[in-house]
Amino acid sequence: MFITFEGPDGSGKTTQARLCAADLQARGHLVEFTREPGGTAISEQIRQVVLAKRNLAMQSETEALLFSAARAQIVAELIRPALAAGKIVICDRYADSTLAYQGYGLGLDLDALRAITRFATGGLVPDLTVYVDVPVEVGLARRHRGETNRLDHKALEYHARVRAGYLELIQREPARWIVIDGAREIEMVQADIRAQIERRGI
Ligand code: TYD
Repeated sequence: MFITFEGPDGSGKTTQARLCAADLQARGHLVEFTREPGGTAISEQIRQVVLAKRNLAMQSETEALLFSAARAQIVAELIRPALAAGKIVICDRYADSTLAYQGYGLGLDLDALRAITRFATGGLVPDLTVYVDVPVEVGLARRHRGETNRLDHKALEYHARVRAGYLELIQREPARWIVIDGAREIEMVQADIRAQIERRGI
Protein backbone atom coordinates (compact mmCIF):
# COMPACT_ATOMS: atom_id res chain seq x y z
CA MET A 1 0.00 0.00 0.00
CA PHE A 2 1.52 3.28 -1.16
CA ILE A 3 0.09 6.44 0.42
CA THR A 4 1.28 9.94 -0.42
CA PHE A 5 0.56 13.29 1.22
CA GLU A 6 0.25 16.45 -0.84
CA GLY A 7 -0.68 20.03 -0.21
CA PRO A 8 0.33 23.63 -0.69
CA ASP A 9 3.21 25.07 1.35
CA GLY A 10 2.18 25.51 4.99
CA SER A 11 -0.75 23.09 4.78
CA GLY A 12 0.55 21.02 7.69
CA LYS A 13 0.76 17.85 5.60
CA THR A 14 4.19 16.90 6.98
CA THR A 15 2.84 16.89 10.53
CA GLN A 16 -0.20 14.93 9.40
CA ALA A 17 1.84 12.42 7.38
CA ARG A 18 3.98 11.69 10.45
CA LEU A 19 0.93 11.33 12.71
CA CYS A 20 -0.71 9.02 10.19
CA ALA A 21 2.43 6.87 9.96
CA ALA A 22 2.64 6.61 13.76
CA ASP A 23 -1.04 5.78 13.93
CA LEU A 24 -0.81 2.95 11.39
CA GLN A 25 2.29 1.62 13.12
CA ALA A 26 0.46 1.62 16.46
CA ARG A 27 -2.27 -0.41 14.80
CA GLY A 28 0.26 -3.09 13.93
CA HIS A 29 1.14 -2.22 10.34
CA LEU A 30 4.71 -2.23 9.08
CA VAL A 31 5.24 1.35 7.96
CA GLU A 32 8.01 3.05 6.00
CA PHE A 33 7.85 6.82 6.29
CA THR A 34 9.79 8.99 3.89
CA ARG A 35 9.74 12.32 2.12
CA GLU A 36 10.43 13.99 -1.20
CA PRO A 37 12.70 15.38 -2.38
CA GLY A 38 14.97 13.18 -0.29
CA GLY A 39 14.60 9.88 1.49
CA THR A 40 17.84 8.30 0.28
CA ALA A 41 21.45 9.53 0.45
CA ILE A 42 21.51 10.37 -3.26
CA SER A 43 18.06 11.99 -3.24
CA GLU A 44 19.01 14.11 -0.21
CA GLN A 45 22.06 15.36 -2.12
CA ILE A 46 19.80 16.30 -5.03
CA ARG A 47 17.47 18.03 -2.52
CA GLN A 48 20.36 20.25 -1.41
CA VAL A 49 20.87 21.41 -4.99
CA VAL A 50 17.24 21.86 -5.96
CA LEU A 51 16.15 23.71 -2.81
CA ALA A 52 19.32 25.80 -2.26
CA LYS A 53 18.41 29.49 -2.03
CA ARG A 54 21.61 30.46 -3.85
CA ASN A 55 20.57 28.59 -7.00
CA LEU A 56 18.41 31.46 -8.24
CA ALA A 57 19.46 30.88 -11.85
CA MET A 58 17.89 27.42 -11.93
CA GLN A 59 15.70 26.86 -14.98
CA SER A 60 12.22 25.40 -14.56
CA GLU A 61 13.23 22.42 -16.70
CA THR A 62 16.32 21.81 -14.56
CA GLU A 63 14.14 21.94 -11.45
CA ALA A 64 11.62 19.46 -12.86
CA LEU A 65 14.36 17.05 -13.89
CA LEU A 66 16.13 17.27 -10.51
CA PHE A 67 12.92 16.53 -8.60
CA SER A 68 12.32 13.64 -10.99
CA ALA A 69 15.90 12.38 -10.63
CA ALA A 70 15.54 12.35 -6.85
CA ARG A 71 12.25 10.49 -7.34
CA ALA A 72 13.79 7.82 -9.59
CA GLN A 73 16.29 7.03 -6.84
CA ILE A 74 13.83 6.88 -3.94
CA VAL A 75 11.40 4.71 -5.91
CA ALA A 76 14.05 2.15 -6.86
CA GLU A 77 16.06 2.21 -3.64
CA LEU A 78 13.39 2.57 -0.99
CA ILE A 79 9.75 2.61 -2.05
CA ARG A 80 9.58 -0.45 -4.31
CA PRO A 81 11.58 -2.68 -1.93
CA ALA A 82 9.41 -1.59 1.02
CA LEU A 83 6.22 -2.30 -0.90
CA ALA A 84 7.62 -5.68 -1.96
CA ALA A 85 8.27 -6.42 1.73
CA GLY A 86 4.59 -5.82 2.44
CA LYS A 87 4.99 -2.47 4.16
CA ILE A 88 2.72 0.55 4.00
CA VAL A 89 4.83 3.31 2.48
CA ILE A 90 3.91 6.86 3.44
CA CYS A 91 5.63 9.53 1.40
CA ASP A 92 5.48 13.25 2.18
CA ARG A 93 5.10 14.59 -1.41
CA TYR A 94 5.49 12.61 -4.63
CA ALA A 95 4.92 13.08 -8.36
CA ASP A 96 1.75 15.16 -7.95
CA SER A 97 4.01 17.87 -6.49
CA THR A 98 5.89 18.06 -9.80
CA LEU A 99 2.63 18.44 -11.75
CA ALA A 100 1.29 21.04 -9.29
CA TYR A 101 4.48 23.11 -8.78
CA GLN A 102 6.47 22.74 -12.00
CA GLY A 103 3.44 22.14 -14.22
CA TYR A 104 0.60 24.36 -13.02
CA GLY A 105 2.87 26.67 -10.97
CA LEU A 106 5.75 27.28 -13.39
CA GLY A 107 3.87 26.49 -16.59
CA LEU A 108 5.85 23.49 -17.85
CA ASP A 109 4.06 21.17 -20.24
CA LEU A 110 1.96 18.70 -18.24
CA ASP A 111 2.21 15.87 -20.76
CA ALA A 112 6.01 16.19 -20.82
CA LEU A 113 6.06 16.09 -17.00
CA ARG A 114 3.82 13.01 -17.01
CA ALA A 115 6.19 11.26 -19.43
CA ILE A 116 9.23 12.20 -17.32
CA THR A 117 7.43 10.97 -14.22
CA ARG A 118 6.61 7.63 -15.85
CA PHE A 119 10.25 7.26 -16.85
CA ALA A 120 11.48 8.16 -13.35
CA THR A 121 9.05 6.00 -11.42
CA GLY A 122 8.53 3.10 -13.82
CA GLY A 123 4.84 3.99 -13.58
CA LEU A 124 4.48 3.64 -9.82
CA VAL A 125 1.30 5.53 -8.85
CA PRO A 126 0.11 5.90 -5.23
CA ASP A 127 -2.84 3.78 -4.12
CA LEU A 128 -4.07 6.74 -2.10
CA THR A 129 -3.16 10.41 -1.90
CA VAL A 130 -4.16 12.59 1.04
CA TYR A 131 -4.50 16.21 -0.02
CA VAL A 132 -4.32 18.59 2.93
CA ASP A 133 -5.88 21.80 1.71
CA VAL A 134 -5.50 25.33 3.00
CA PRO A 135 -6.18 28.64 1.32
CA VAL A 136 -2.96 30.06 -0.11
CA GLU A 137 -2.88 33.03 2.27
CA VAL A 138 -3.30 30.76 5.30
CA GLY A 139 -0.51 28.43 4.17
CA LEU A 140 1.91 31.23 3.44
CA ALA A 141 1.04 33.04 6.67
CA ARG A 142 1.87 29.86 8.62
CA ARG A 143 5.19 29.65 6.82
CA HIS A 144 6.07 33.28 7.30
CA ARG A 145 4.51 33.83 10.73
CA GLY A 146 1.77 36.12 9.56
CA GLU A 147 3.94 38.25 7.33
CA THR A 148 2.21 37.52 4.04
CA ASN A 149 2.23 41.20 3.22
CA ARG A 150 5.99 40.92 2.78
CA LEU A 151 5.57 38.28 0.09
CA ASP A 152 5.40 39.74 -3.36
CA HIS A 153 2.38 39.40 -5.57
CA LYS A 154 4.21 37.01 -7.90
CA ALA A 155 4.77 34.53 -5.09
CA LEU A 156 1.11 34.64 -4.10
CA GLU A 157 0.00 34.10 -7.69
CA TYR A 158 2.41 31.21 -8.09
CA HIS A 159 1.07 29.47 -4.99
CA ALA A 160 -2.50 30.13 -6.10
CA ARG A 161 -1.74 28.38 -9.42
CA VAL A 162 -0.20 25.46 -7.50
CA ARG A 163 -3.31 25.06 -5.36
CA ALA A 164 -5.65 25.37 -8.34
CA GLY A 165 -3.49 22.75 -10.06
CA TYR A 166 -3.94 20.34 -7.20
CA LEU A 167 -7.70 20.80 -7.35
CA GLU A 168 -7.62 20.03 -11.07
CA LEU A 169 -5.51 16.90 -10.52
CA ILE A 170 -8.05 15.73 -7.92
CA GLN A 171 -10.94 16.29 -10.34
CA ARG A 172 -9.19 14.19 -13.00
CA GLU A 173 -8.73 11.22 -10.68
CA PRO A 174 -11.11 11.56 -7.72
CA ALA A 175 -10.92 7.92 -6.62
CA ARG A 176 -7.23 8.17 -5.71
CA TRP A 177 -7.54 11.27 -3.53
CA ILE A 178 -8.83 12.08 -0.05
CA VAL A 179 -9.38 15.82 0.39
CA ILE A 180 -8.93 17.16 3.90
CA ASP A 181 -9.60 20.66 5.22
CA GLY A 182 -6.25 21.57 6.79
CA ALA A 183 -7.33 24.94 8.19
CA ARG A 184 -8.32 23.40 11.54
CA GLU A 185 -6.70 22.20 14.76
CA ILE A 186 -4.05 19.50 14.24
CA GLU A 187 -6.09 16.94 16.22
CA MET A 188 -9.23 17.53 14.17
CA VAL A 189 -7.38 17.17 10.89
CA GLN A 190 -5.70 14.02 12.19
CA ALA A 191 -9.00 12.47 13.25
CA ASP A 192 -10.51 13.28 9.88
CA ILE A 193 -7.63 11.62 8.01
CA ARG A 194 -7.80 8.55 10.26
CA ALA A 195 -11.54 8.17 9.68
CA GLN A 196 -11.18 8.49 5.91
CA ILE A 197 -8.33 5.99 5.79
CA GLU A 198 -10.28 3.51 7.92
CA ARG A 199 -13.22 3.94 5.58
CA ARG A 200 -10.93 2.68 2.82
CA GLY A 201 -10.29 -0.48 4.84
CA ILE A 202 -6.68 0.37 5.73
P1 TYD B 1 10.03 21.15 1.94
O1 TYD B 1 10.94 21.99 2.77
O2 TYD B 1 10.09 19.68 2.06
O3 TYD B 1 8.56 21.70 2.14
P2 TYD B 1 7.14 21.04 2.39
O4 TYD B 1 7.03 20.85 3.87
O5 TYD B 1 6.19 22.06 1.86
O6 TYD B 1 7.06 19.75 1.61
O7 TYD B 1 10.30 21.60 0.45
C1 TYD B 1 9.76 20.99 -0.60
C2 TYD B 1 9.48 22.09 -1.63
O8 TYD B 1 9.73 21.56 -2.91
C3 TYD B 1 8.04 22.53 -1.58
O9 TYD B 1 7.96 23.94 -1.72
C4 TYD B 1 7.44 21.89 -2.79
C5 TYD B 1 8.61 21.73 -3.72
N1 TYD B 1 8.50 20.58 -4.66
C6 TYD B 1 8.32 20.85 -6.00
O10 TYD B 1 8.25 22.02 -6.41
N2 TYD B 1 8.24 19.80 -6.89
C7 TYD B 1 8.34 18.50 -6.49
O11 TYD B 1 8.27 17.57 -7.32
C8 TYD B 1 8.52 18.23 -5.08
C9 TYD B 1 8.63 16.83 -4.59
C10 TYD B 1 8.60 19.31 -4.21
